[in-house]
Amino acid sequence: MEHLLVTGGCGFIGANLIRFLLERTPFEGRVVNVDKLTYAGNPESLADLAERFPRRYAFVQADIGDPAAMAEVFDGQGIDAVCHLAAESHVDRSIVAPGGFVQTNVVGTLNLLELARARRGRLVRFHHVSTDEVYGSLGETGRFMETTPYGPNSPYAASKAGADHLVRAYGHTYGLPVTITNCSNNYGPYQFPEKLIPLMILNALEGRPLPVYGRGANVRDWLFVEDHCRALWEVLTRGRVGETYNIGGDCERRNLEVVERICGLLDEMAPEARIGERRRLITFVVDRPGHDYRYAIDCTKLQRELGWRPAESFESGLRRTVRWYLEHPAWVARVRSGAYREWVARQYGAGAAPGGEGAA
Ligand code: NAD
Ligand code: DAU
Repeated sequence: MEHLLVTGGCGFIGANLIRFLLERTPFEGRVVNVDKLTYAGNPESLADLAERFPRRYAFVQADIGDPAAMAEVFDGQGIDAVCHLAAESHVDRSIVAPGGFVQTNVVGTLNLLELARARRGRLVRFHHVSTDEVYGSLGETGRFMETTPYGPNSPYAASKAGADHLVRAYGHTYGLPVTITNCSNNYGPYQFPEKLIPLMILNALEGRPLPVYGRGANVRDWLFVEDHCRALWEVLTRGRVGETYNIGGDCERRNLEVVERICGLLDEMAPEARIGERRRLITFVVDRPGHDYRYAIDCTKLQRELGWRPAESFESGLRRTVRWYLEHPAWVARVRSGAYREWVARQYGAGAAPGGEGAA
């Protein structure tokens, strides 16, 4: 693995992964980051890397669904391994407009697989970064295993499931050296503030309403993003070809508990008399249609085969995350562009966007 293509490297997990690969692993090759720069892609997250690693990092703006542009990347950059993260990733957006999810997550993945198939002699690995949402929803008990039947419930989850099936089929039919990981909810630096944790951090910081869907009883299994990156490195380099590995934090929390914890941290780290106790900002809003009740991952296989375990506790990881958002107001200002404000107004009502009415 000398010329690694990372797709979606300007997104949340991709940006953390590229930093991790260049700064914290023995990897000595080049990373080629291909990103279309959708609303979720922010080149600022990696702005220092081109200068710090001029021979080991390159960025190409392209759509993974564009056959000619991606063929040029594979051949022009001598790609011999792929770590595929590029996707439309927000469940709520997939409910409003599913078409783009099928286009990027299914058709885009198919395009990469076709290019990889045509070059499979020189490709040592095609890794697909996927989600636990492909397994559907759990009740009060049980955990998702690699053998759990797929049962995706949202258009986002269905599109990721479709991509997983294609990746697996290309391994089975054409002998492409594929691996897949299905990971639980990530949180940490550089996450776009449409997702629960950064949305709540920024709204709470500014004294804006904290929109909790339903009664906040849904459960997610949280994993600090650096732990996900370390798991990806282990699977990329030591995972068995043809296998799927689940990745999870063994850290189930109800949404309301997560939001209350964020309120407590901000009251402590950024107290403001004008706002007072942030808990009072919690506002129960209409539930997400088809909202999956609970996710929980069994990652025994990854632990047993590759010795991976999460290093960060939820308490310390959440504190680090809150501190990161407090210390990076310029990054936050940049990502809350006009497109972001339009999404917030549409999803949560006019006046909910930063700069509008509704602040305390
Ligand atoms: P993100 O939305 O933050 O980033 C996605 C990136 O992909 C963006 O930089 C965007 O510009 C890029 N992109 C979108 N469409 C593209 C296209 N057609 N061509 C090229 N680039 C394109 O997503 P994320 O949270 O970083 O998730 C990354 C991957 O990990 C996704 O595949 C997602 O399904 C998976 N995943 C995410 C989580 C999570 O909790 N965030 C958990 C498990 C798995
Ligand atoms: O499980 C992995 C998945 O986690 C990834 O595949 C997805 O890309 C990622 O977006 C995430 O999906 P979720 O739907 O679980 O994440 P989100 O942050 O959107 O929501 C987390 C929970 O919080 C969920 O139960 C819905 C709830 N929620 C979310 C938002 C945005 C709220 O209550 N209010 C909100 O405003």
